[in-house]
Amino acid sequence: NDDQFKKVVSHAKEYGYIFASSEIYDGLSAVYDYAQNGVELKKNIREYWWRSMVYMHQNIVGIDSAILMHPTTWKASGHVDAFNDPLIDNKDSKKRYRADVLIEDYAEKLYQKAQKEIEKAKGRFGDAFDEQEFITTNPRVVKYLEERRTVLERMARSLEKEDLADVKALIEELGIADPETGSKNWTDVRQFNLMFGTKLGASVESAMDLYLRPETAQGIFVNFLNVQKSGRMKIPFGIAQTGKAFRNEIVARQFIFRMREFEQMEMQFFVRPGEELKYYEQWKETRLKWHLSLGMGAENYRFHDHEKLAHYANAATDIEFNFPFGFKELEGIHSRTDFDLKAHEKFSGKKLQFFDPELNESYVPYVVETSIGLDRMFLAVLSNSLQDETLEDGSIRTVLKLPAILAPVKAAVLPLIKRDGLPEIAQQIIDDLQWDYNVIYDEKDAVGRRYRRQDAVGTPFCITVDHQTIEDNTVTIRYRDTMEQERIKIEEISEKMKETISY
Ligand code: GAP
Repeated sequence: NDDQFKKVVSHAKEYGYIFASSEIYDGLSAVYDYAQNGVELKKNIREYWWRSMVYMHQNIVGIDSAILMHPTTWKASGHVDAFNDPLIDNKDSKKRYRADVLIEDYAEKLYQKAQKEIEKAKGRFGDAFDEQEFITTNPRVVKYLEERRTVLERMARSLEKEDLADVKALIEELGIADPETGSKNWTDVRQFNLMFGTKLGASVESAMDLYLRPETAQGIFVNFLNVQKSGRMKIPFGIAQTGKAFRNEIVARQFIFRMREFEQMEMQFFVRPGEELKYYEQWKETRLKWHLSLGMGAENYRFHDHEKLAHYANAATDIEFNFPFGFKELEGIHSRTDFDLKAHEKFSGKKLQFFDPELNESYVPYVVETSIGLDRMFLAVLSNSLQDETLEDGSIRTVLKLPAILAPVKAAVLPLIKRDGLPEIAQQIIDDLQWDYNVIYDEKDAVGRRYRRQDAVGTPFCITVDHQTIEDNTVTIRYRDTMEQERIKIEEISEKMKETISY
């Protein structure tokens, strides 16, 4: 809900996760900076992805291709001609919207209405409730879902045929109003290319028009043969990469959910033609397992299989996550056929084929891709972790229950007071831990307040040094999630942390 989302945004700023870009100049729309804790969380998510994709699969290797690519790349990939969003302006408010998003939001409301009916009935019928039966027979639910399907299908059809007049007609027929002002005075719908252009070279005559890459995938496709040959890779194999991508998004809203500069984590898996759907199913399962391994609640994920497919795909699904503003796309898994490699063959005149020694023939491989937005994953983790807990004494504790493996700061070491040699012991503990873990020292304020500060940052462990430490070399270790405390030997700290924080 809205309140929870606002809390996430302000918490992200207050605790050093995310700042608006160039904030002293009032920011730049849909561009954000990662602050001291944000950069760590982001790095840890990237690392978690990289290890599970590259290290855990003997047949996947990583690359890091350049953001700038030869401009023909984007002609071949279809981005110059087809990477467009349909735009519509409201004549009264002068606000600009994505026509497809307005329609999708309308369809989502119908879905919510149906969902509400289902929940109500569940409450009424209890265990005897047959959801499938209800969905297909309850007149109201049938009507909502039917209308939703019709609306989305008509939109997809019109967009595919580039019939923008019909997209506008649909908006008018549905009575969709400007979400901010309620006005229904719309302009025509027109296409807008999302790629950012830039120039290579100084002189006017020789300058070359380039684009900032709108996806990292093409850097993998154009390097397919280089990697295959230099790594002596055999099909099936994958190439993974993480890196920045740029899109001139029209509707930039929902914080870091939709940004103009963002980071992707993509993997292209090259397979024998005809085997792509088998691997597509496998990757769906593997990627969902990856998400579930973080323990953020199975109920917060769902697949959304695409009925309408892009011209290059023969199967596609989104892993949707339950963000504070509802279920939205977090990751895409696409069976892209041989579309990209064939297109690059055509435009470059170079063969991009694999000689399969088992079949004794050469072919252009088919591709199954998994593509997740790092920033979007960051938002999923952050919003899912932020909780307000009411304690036994009635006070509220704000705690960021981040998966420990992703937490920016793994432990805070706190001397109970600032004298009697306690700070020195704390410093020694830091010295011992800091190569393996990002640990911090904090001596300011009463220890209870320091605990709360670490709870809000999401630090899984607090280690407190007190007078007993001088006598018996033990410290108190406090666990963020349970607030339980335990006395352990200084030499045991590292082992104790490793139990929770290891790959
Ligand atoms: N190579 C396939 C591809 O780029 P996509 O669905 O356009 O597919 C993949 O993007 C993922 O990248 C999305 O699921 C989303 O997580 C992320 N993403 C896309 N556009 C984004 C944006 N403007 N801001 C943040 N993340 C974005």
